[in-house]
Amino acid sequence: MSKEKLIIFDTTLRDGEQSPGASMTAEEKLRIAKALEKMKVDIIEAGFPISSEGDFLAVRGIAQEIKDSVVCALARAGALDINRAGEALKEANASRIHTFIATSPLHMRDKLQMTPDQVFDQAVSAVKLARNFTDNVEFSPEDAGRSELDFLCRIIEAVIKAGATTINIPDTVGYNLPQQYGETIRQLIERVPNSGKAVFSTHCHNDLGMAVANSLAGVMNGARQVECSINGLGERAGNAALEEVIMAVRTRQDMLPCDVGVDTTQIMTCSRLVSGITGFAVQPNKAIVGANAFAHESGIHQHGVLKSRETYEIMCAEDVGLSSNKIVLGKLSGRSAFKDRLEKLDISVDSEEELNNAFKRFKDLADKKSEIFDEDIQALLSNFQMEKSFSEAIKLISIKACSETGEMPQASVTLCVDDEERSASSDGGGLVDATFKAIEEIISSDADLQIYSVSNVTKGTDSLGEVAVRLEKAGRIVNGQGSDTDIVIASAKAYINALNRLLSPTSKRIHPQPYEGV
Ligand code: KIV
Ligand code: ZN
Repeated sequence: MSKEKLIIFDTTLRDGEQSPGASMTAEEKLRIAKALEKMKVDIIEAGFPISSEGDFLAVRGIAQEIKDSVVCALARAGALDINRAGEALKEANASRIHTFIATSPLHMRDKLQMTPDQVFDQAVSAVKLARNFTDNVEFSPEDAGRSELDFLCRIIEAVIKAGATTINIPDTVGYNLPQQYGETIRQLIERVPNSGKAVFSTHCHNDLGMAVANSLAGVMNGARQVECSINGLGERAGNAALEEVIMAVRTRQDMLPCDVGVDTTQIMTCSRLVSGITGFAVQPNKAIVGANAFAHESGIHQHGVLKSRETYEIMCAEDVGLSSNKIVLGKLSGRSAFKDRLEKLDISVDSEEELNNAFKRFKDLADKKSEIFDEDIQALLSNFQMEKSFSEAIKLISIKACSETGEMPQASVTLCVDDEERSASSDGGGLVDATFKAIEEIISSDADLQIYSVSNVTKGTDSLGEVAVRLEKAGRIVNGQGSDTDIVIASAKAYINALNRLLSPTSKRIHPQPYEGV
């Protein structure tokens, strides 16, 4: 018997982008959308076009480029929002409008200041209007997790009659427990007379750490779409993590007998891309994509796994795209071996000149590190592509950093700023601190350093260190990344990368979406 399909709806670019500090440029959103399409995600929620001109253009750009996934845009249940969403999606190969209005007594009374009947009428009109743009319309009763079941049944029946094809049940504030959320889905499907004409969907927030458990409880009770995001990015504590939902369904087919069309081997690439762009590092013990997710520390576990992998592993690292740190290239590898590896990793370079440039970076790395893994190449190229996406007014020429027991660490930095060479020295609490102070001596950006994080790309002390930096100035937030086998140099690269973004007019971040009432 064929299994029912579970639709994977990714909202990294919409709800994920609402995560404080995670707003992205249009170019970054498009890069993530392409990675999601490659992973064969069914639906990509690209943004909220009414929220800003930048987000409108980002959604339109994604709609023009993405061919294999449905591109969705969010709209409050009002004509202005829906017309704007329809306009942004005009050129999409396949589009969906996702419209929502709050249905909980608290939201209706205090936020919307509308009666339930007014909310009901507005929801029905919104769905009818959205149907003028596409026959793929999703309706969400916002804060459904705290709404009255009778009212939900009444409004859902009416919006399905008006043309909604997907009914999404958001636990907007992450308040529900799995049994309760599953029961809500079951009862809605049972009690709404025309429920068979729509797909029911989950949208769970993680405020109590229940987002994935609630989503899976929804699936067990009949939901056939899950809304989720890479690394669980999203408002406040985030959404259900896409990688966790997918691997749970794949691993526990006995309990969740649904088909997921996603290519799981792309999970690590997507996770790294999203954490690199947003500057949100993935915690080492995070399920599926954390650095420790497939590592065994205790002797008993290592012994067991060597004898039989299944003793302590329920999934294969390869299934989520981990190459198990196999050496792929070395110091003596030539340009064609490098090019071949890029092709295998699906990394494209735009010209011969760019390939030469990337190859030179690879050779520099191979001089410092004898074994080069796929992860090293991905980190190297991700930085390269990041720098390429906007003009670099500031370039690093050299750093000299010294630390000695009992002495203040010192750093001297030379930069090329708008074609002029400039140097400065500083001391600091540590080498990284001294380096950042020396860079600030030269640039005087006065930006506030909000996040600084370091992670190793592979194992060993000669591993590439990947540094993420977040700067804020006058309400504008930018992230920068840098990698190098030397942490101080990686940090300087990341800081300079962020400064270049701060100074570049083309890297303007799209403002996180406003959430005023309808
Ligand atoms: O959490 C929520 O309620 C939302 C809606 C817009 C679906 O994100
Ligand atoms: Zn949400």
